[in-house]
Amino acid sequence: MASPQLLVRRPEAPTTDSWSPAGWRTLPITQQPTWPDRDELDAVADYLSGLPALTGVEEIRRLREELALASAGKAFVLQAGDCAEPLGMAATASARAKHRAITSLGERLTRELHRPTIGLGRLGGQFAKPRSEPFEAVDGQLLPVFRGLMVNEPEGTALARQPDPYRLLSCYYTARQVVAELAQAGGGVWTSHEVLILEYEQALTRLDEVTGEWFLRSTHLPWVGDRTRGVDDAHLNFLAGLGNPVAVKVGPSATVDDVLRICALLDPHRRPGRLTLISRMGQQRIADHLPPLVRAVVDAGHPVAWMSDAMHGNTVRGAGGVKTRHLDAIVGELTTFVEVLRGHGLEPAGLHLEIAADDVTECVGASVTDESQLGRNYRSLCDPRLNNEQADAVVDALVAAMHR
Ligand code: PEP
Ligand code: CO
Repeated sequence: MASPQLLVRRPEAPTTDSWSPAGWRTLPITQQPTWPDRDELDAVADYLSGLPALTGVEEIRRLREELALASAGKAFVLQAGDCAEPLGMAATASARAKHRAITSLGERLTRELHRPTIGLGRLGGQFAKPRSEPFEAVDGQLLPVFRGLMVNEPEGTALARQPDPYRLLSCYYTARQVVAELAQAGGGVWTSHEVLILEYEQALTRLDEVTGEWFLRSTHLPWVGDRTRGVDDAHLNFLAGLGNPVAVKVGPSATVDDVLRICALLDPHRRPGRLTLISRMGQQRIADHLPPLVRAVVDAGHPVAWMSDAMHGNTVRGAGGVKTRHLDAIVGELTTFVEVLRGHGLEPAGLHLEIAADDVTECVGASVTDESQLGRNYRSLCDPRLNNEQADAVVDALVAAMHR
């Protein structure tokens, strides 16, 4: 009989000897809450590390293979969901609705683009938010900002805004429900979220005994946002040792050097499907800022899947100071994105959207004719989302740009 050693599969990309799931703790980190009691946080994280993983290694590997197809123009990713995911019963209802929306938009894309759609939810973990300011004045009182339901509550009181480490557990149990709900709804939608609170993510990072690789099993596809993508910092270095496919948002402040260093750190073996870059430049800036980055990545030989988040670079303050986004700007950015990628001999790999499955009035366009309509049904916990009609319009515009 073969000795057990002979059955051990070699990892495709051996995790470097120096990487460990806790290694990020020695590095600079940004966008973190001021936790009232770090021992309590560590105790919660320790408890979490003994709970079952939320995603499976084989599923994660399969997504990496699908993303490889997307980077080669043979599949198309639709990544969508809330900016900040709700908790509890609201989360499961929202997940069901998102599953429906992603499936139906995905079917349209598959039909129109003649390639399979990979459905990816901002779901089952999208609970922590980076913010541009750490404090805000509410009724004359300076309060910590809302950082997502993994950290605190949106209500404008000191009590609600106090970070509470036990929220990591509520988020875990909600994510578990969401994953079950997605499976029950028929599957076909992978999970993804921004990794921000690394105590949570570290606790759900598990060793695959078969290959010796580490996998983040809180999700299928973790991404790092534009505000935390420092290449010497904790977040990107946490991603570096994972066997998962990973993504990074790239905004207008990203330089060629930044992007090449991100690619070198996260995709040293130039493996298709490993790295997705999500461009979020803004309509005004994409034509100037994206081309040199795409050129440099192509020249460096990284088979990156380039996706467009045409939402986050187009956030403006509308009437009454409320955050909104105009469909015209979103469509404008998407159209330029397709032109830039094609101009470099690449195919767009996907579209990243913030959507609500209900008839919200958070973005301007289609039946939300102007900013005065925003107050009708504005419910987002964080950024403004597209309603169904607006999401359809964006998908139509993308299809038109892809057929040009
Ligand atoms: C987000 O996706 O909600 C987000 C904060 O994105 P970005 O990192 O692109 O600003
Ligand atoms: Co957002």
